[in-house]
Amino acid sequence: MSVVKINVLTVPAEMRDELERRFGNRAGMVESSDGFEWFELLRPVEGTDRYLVYTRWRSEDDFQRWQQSRAFQAGHAQAAADAAAQGHGHGQAPAGHGHGQGPAATDSEVWTFEVVQSAGRKEA
Ligand code: HEM
Repeated sequence: MSVVKINVLTVPAEMRDELERRFGNRAGMVESSDGFEWFELLRPVEGTDRYLVYTRWRSEDDFQRWQQSRAFQAGHAQAAADAAAQGHGHGQAPAGHGHGQGPAATDSEVWTFEVVQSAGRKEA
């Protein structure tokens, strides 16, 4: 059964373009991680002002392995450098060459779901 992990990002209005730019330059390493199935960056339109980073994995273990991996660190290099530049990095930050603008998100939390059913468009 696949598992969905959603990173929920609180992003001030003036940082939205910056966040999307960072994802535009993302490492793209998650795609080749074992057990990875799907990623989407979801921009809020109505009902919430938080961005959702939707990821789907073959199993919880596959997600955990990616989170411990160099691919995850590489995929968060800009975010980590910017957090370190602000002085509240969380220990995983590589020595910073960040632009010192600080993190685009002011808060984040992870939601976990099990996929009970899914469907895609049926071929005609
Ligand atoms: C401290 C919490 C986190 C924050 C603030 C954060 C923020 C970001 C940012 C700004 C980027 C764009 C790249 C960069 O700027 O370095 C990014 C990439 C990404 N984030 Fe996070 N993130 C966090 C944790 C997570 C978690 C727990 C997940 C899993 C659900 C996740 C999923 C992703 C994915 C899939 C990418 C693209 C990586 C790639 O292309 O290889 N993030 N994140």
